[in-house]
Amino acid sequence: MITRVLQAGEGIARATELIRRGQVVAFPTETVYGLGANALDPAAVEKIFAAKGRPGDNPLIVHIAGLEEMAPLVQGELPEAAALLAEAFWPGPLTLILPKSHRIPDVVSAGLDTVGIRMPDHPVARALIRAAGVPIAAPSANRSGRPSPTTARHVLQDMAGRIPLILDGGSCGVGVESTVLDLCSRPARVLRPGGVTPGMIAGVLGSVDVDESVLQPLKEGETVRSPGMKYKHYAPRGRMTIVQGAGAQGEIARLYDEAERAGQRACILALEGNVPAYGERRVLALGADAESAAAKLFAALRSMDELGIQRIISEAVPPNGMGLAVMNRLERAAAFDLVSLTPEEKGNC
Ligand code: TXA
Ligand code: MG
Repeated sequence: MITRVLQAGEGIARATELIRRGQVVAFPTETVYGLGANALDPAAVEKIFAAKGRPGDNPLIVHIAGLEEMAPLVQGELPEAAALLAEAFWPGPLTLILPKSHRIPDVVSAGLDTVGIRMPDHPVARALIRAAGVPIAAPSANRSGRPSPTTARHVLQDMAGRIPLILDGGSCGVGVESTVLDLCSRPARVLRPGGVTPGMIAGVLGSVDVDESVLQPLKEGETVRSPGMKYKHYAPRGRMTIVQGAGAQGEIARLYDEAERAGQRACILALEGNVPAYGERRVLALGADAESAAAKLFAALRSMDELGIQRIISEAVPPNGMGLAVMNRLERAAAFDLVSLTPEEKGNC
């Protein structure tokens, strides 16, 4: 199969035709690029799983363009919380998990009785959903296990020859995937942090829980509420370690030097303001704050592989606001290899 890349403007008509014919198309959203197909057509949705190499027990998010499209996808009456959150944050980077109606094929929900619904805030995504006239099921457009794509070039790296069309809408603004919020739990529970933070949700609902798995590996035998959280994620080829706490910069420099002495090509991931602290060492800057770190993170992880980096040592960001989403992705990319320094340990170095 030949994969065409078209500018979003000229490509939407072609993409619409492909979606209507039960094919898969990659398209930009404000979070990351998605790999979309008609959510109501099980055979089309199967093609998404095949193109990604995605395990069949990991459900997909269904994307809509108008509020009136939500109720038919949900079983029973729409909870008030869903209406309030949609009003506050849609279109935007928030996915709501709700009981699914019979219209959602089992392949979309991976056999669960719930469905994730989101209204993206990107003109291309919205135009495509509107023109196709159906809800669009779409995971991130990466091969399973790879960092999510935030440019059309990233999608092409992973999907060349596997899908017919990529719509190029430039770089994604948010840069990490949507917040996944389980509205079937009481109180509502964040399963995956993203651009809509727990604080923003609590501002609307009064309170919200954050699932333990957000910043911790699954314990042995534990079942996971969001199936996507159990898989190895975002992983660059090089070994990655995150260092946080007092004296982190010194320890990061030490780990870098140790790797280089051992003949490995190393690189540091750091916030912009800290770059000078690492002197001549190879550093990739993640921007000035958690928001810009989110926007740059996946591109940075991909460039580690392109640069042949074998050892990655990353700074941590405080896990509040957008920082929670950044730490969630960093920890998975590092397979939870996190060094936490206390002031005493610093004294020993
Ligand atoms: O920003 C995003 O959410 C992007 C863009 C394309 O919209 N999509 C995305 O999809 O990140 P994906 O499939 O890569 O991640 C969806 C996450 C997975 O962790 C999945 O397990 C979880 O949402 N999820 C989907 N449906 C669910 C459900 N019914 N219950 C629990 N978790 C669900
Ligand atoms: Mg994904």
